[in-house]
Amino acid sequence: MVRGIGLKVLLVADGAGVLCHTAPLVTSLVRTGLSVRLSLTASAQILVGPYYGSMLSGHPVLSFEELDENGVSGYDAILVVPASDKTIKEMCESPAWNGVRCPVLVGPGLLPKDDNADAWDELDATISARGWKLIPAGIETCTMGALGELRVASAERCFEETMVAIGKNDLKGKRILITTGPTAEDADPVRFVTNRSTGRMGVALARMAAWRGAFVTLVHGPMSWPIPQINAIRPVPVRSANDMYKATMELVQDHQVAILCAAVADYTPVEYSDIKIKKGHDATFALLLKRTPDILDAVGHMPGKRPFLVGFAAESDHVHANAQAKLQAKNCDMLCANDVTKPGSGFAVGTNQVTVFLRGGEVRELPQMSKEDVAEKILDMVIERMSLI
Ligand code: CTP
Repeated sequence: MVRGIGLKVLLVADGAGVLCHTAPLVTSLVRTGLSVRLSLTASAQILVGPYYGSMLSGHPVLSFEELDENGVSGYDAILVVPASDKTIKEMCESPAWNGVRCPVLVGPGLLPKDDNADAWDELDATISARGWKLIPAGIETCTMGALGELRVASAERCFEETMVAIGKNDLKGKRILITTGPTAEDADPVRFVTNRSTGRMGVALARMAAWRGAFVTLVHGPMSWPIPQINAIRPVPVRSANDMYKATMELVQDHQVAILCAAVADYTPVEYSDIKIKKGHDATFALLLKRTPDILDAVGHMPGKRPFLVGFAAESDHVHANAQAKLQAKNCDMLCANDVTKPGSGFAVGTNQVTVFLRGGEVRELPQMSKEDVAEKILDMVIERMSLI
């Protein structure tokens, strides 16, 4: 996945947090094609030394004083993480830092003794007052060997927020609701009916949309694929098809785009048994199922103005005919169909090959690509088609 080619990021690593944070962060940034310059503050240099930094980033390491003296320009984004109180104060007082034009993201690192809600609020106020962005710590901490723990946003969260900061922003201000993952239909406290979806395609869509500036509501079933730690993605966990229907119908009106790619169970047990169903003496067991609500169909036929609607279709045969029929029956603006029997397409793989059916009859065949690349192409088409409405 290459997204950052030609763009330059400066990462300032401060204090003992350099022990746990800097290597994974630089590695993920460089992997996307970004050119990364690393600056180590004096306290970080005591611990790791400049060779460590230049080996990681492929460029000579800059000292924090050099930035102050020579100015901080020529970057597409600047990330300061972990940032101590002292460094944040120095940045605030420095004319070089106050003249910076590109996005500046600051991930403060707090020792357990200083870690409380008031301290985070105060940091937020200081950082936002300069037009910089705070990356708050989630539940994650960074263990600095013998030096103990530091509360700081994870390297993963810092990476994701950097990608948002350097993104194209062509979905800025758009609110997108995405459904993904399987649903689980409980029969008793132990058993449930589900399917093979991991939710990976919907997560790729959510991530790429957030990188492009959108705010994403991700309504997801019980998934095995992790949700990226991005502020602009709001996860809404649900379990059954009925839960997903209720959450989607309650939230969707507030969005300009809905992309429904969940593998929703079409049937659910007629009855739920509060106690575990015991095995009988018969050789067979029949579980009676009833239809679940069709969420895509319900959004497609919502009264009044509805969001731009993208559906998915998982097919094993007659892909074109089935997809065209679903596009029309569910009143979608776009429908992305994939043949789940093809290798490299469908459940639990990193790639997908979809054919996009557009309202009005146009059909666009996409090559097999990573799910992130497929997501980008789908979002390109959403932008293109929305501008026609
Ligand atoms: N879908 C939905 N609610 C359901 C079933 C499906 O919202 N109860 C949506 C899926 O998220 C997808 C589209 O409908 O966007 C097509 O799903 P798919 O499983 O391919 O088809 P179905 O409509 O369920 O029909 P069939 O299983 O008979 O192919």
